[in-house]
Amino acid sequence: MFAKLSERLKAGKNHPSRRNATSTIKVTVQRESNHASGDRDNKRGGGGDKAPSSGTSRESTPLKRARSEDASSPRRSASQSPAKRPSRKNSPRKTPSNALSAMTNHRIRGSAENSEASRFPTPEPLTRRLVPLIEGGDLELVSAAECIKDVPGEWSFGGPLHVSVQLPNKLESYPIWHPKSSGDFAPLAELRTVMEIAASMFPNMELQSRINDPLGGDCIARRFAKAIKKDDQELLNTTIDEFNKLITGYRADLRRFDPIKPEMAHEILTMAYCRTVSPKASQLRDYKSFSNNVYGELLPGFCTKIFNQTGLTKDSVFVDLGSGVGNVTLQAALEIGCESWGCEIMPLASELASLQKTEVEARASAWGLPSGEITLLSEDFVNNARIQGALRRASVVLVNNYAFDGELNNQLLQMFLDLPEGAKIVSLKSFVPPGHTISAHNIESPMNILKVYHREFGHDSVNWTPAAGDYYIAVVDRSRLAAYI
Ligand SMILES: C[S@@+](CC[C@H](N)C(=O)[O-])C[C@H]1O[C@@H](n2cnc3c(N)ncnc32)[C@H](O)[C@@H]1O
Repeated sequence: MFAKLSERLKAGKNHPSRRNATSTIKVTVQRESNHASGDRDNKRGGGGDKAPSSGTSRESTPLKRARSEDASSPRRSASQSPAKRPSRKNSPRKTPSNALSAMTNHRIRGSAENSEASRFPTPEPLTRRLVPLIEGGDLELVSAAECIKDVPGEWSFGGPLHVSVQLPNKLESYPIWHPKSSGDFAPLAELRTVMEIAASMFPNMELQSRINDPLGGDCIARRFAKAIKKDDQELLNTTIDEFNKLITGYRADLRRFDPIKPEMAHEILTMAYCRTVSPKASQLRDYKSFSNNVYGELLPGFCTKIFNQTGLTKDSVFVDLGSGVGNVTLQAALEIGCESWGCEIMPLASELASLQKTEVEARASAWGLPSGEITLLSEDFVNNARIQGALRRASVVLVNNYAFDGELNNQLLQMFLDLPEGAKIVSLKSFVPPGHTISAHNIESPMNILKVYHREFGHDSVNWTPAAGDYYIAVVDRSRLAAYI
């Protein structure tokens, strides 16, 4: 099925300029220096010695500040301090004995070649433009009322009460209801987030602070909290009414960034996840231990970091091999606006991915936000013609291969021969062992076209452990092999 690697290079397919041949060439796993603590990524906002692209705003936005006060969603833990992290009741994260957690402490530590001076290339910063809202809102949303159906909790004002809240392109209904457990879906905390997102879309500070005043002055968000606390239904009605009128009155002036700000993408993705994946999340743990189908998720903050580090832009093609419920595929499409692919073999995960895609697209439309083209395949990625086609155009490939066995990792390596020069593969286990060198006996190995950089993710980056860990970015670089042959 695959042409011999050496023949491909000799034939000039994907051929870089040739250099003088040498007899053996090292293919290295390069390690960034200066990494003292596991959470340095969070502190620096990007990891590594160099600052990441400043494109993703890491300043303290009202959205960000307020988020740390509310603990509504099971998926929000990446941005919270351990003390405030909600319980993981509905999340597959509660699987301490699974293969993923067993492997957490296995790290490929530095080897001689890791001290090499070369650095992972810093991509261009992502540029964002302010553009007007886009029309939409014709797709159905899963209502917040659906999410509280079988969850214990209590109503405010002594009985079932819902309010209709105006999103830029659609009305959304919220039950005024409090969950018993802090890990369960909390519609009021989400409604507060909706107000913050909306505030950030208004064209000036004065209008923004009428909805959400970061300095704690009188504002809609504050009056809303007071109405709930004091059981004041009249205040609730007038406050929601005022919010809705502001949104409709200024609708034509509401602005969004293109690509959208990561904080906004994370919130919208969390809303979709809570409605589609959370109710069945515990069933995702139903896999065979130590198999290729061990389930685990990268959290949104870590994915944003990966997008920045790999220089993903609107014109990129992103592919997640083993995409689970589609989180990363959907995030790349919404947050970056690029063409985004996922492929997942497990039926339940695929079914949830499809539900989640529909919900993310409906929510993006309700907020007047664009999204890249999304393709989710419910198939095996091995020997898959559509995936092979996507890989030929791919800019960034993600493989959360933490629990993949050697055979599957080898099949993936063969697939990487299709990748264009400069494509990047992000993985949790390296595809190239430390100390690998090109030699006559391994000349056909796809490892020879990968230049691997070792990185560390910070605490609360993945959903199977709060601990920090390792990941790898392999860049397709055929020049050293070309020089060898
Ligand atoms: C650890 S999960 C990663 C989910 C997602 N990519 C993330 O990082 O959040 C790995 C997924 O790969 C899937 N998988 C394993 N082998 C596969 C194959 N041959 N084809 C498609 N999916 C596969 C598993 O079923 C599992 O859902």
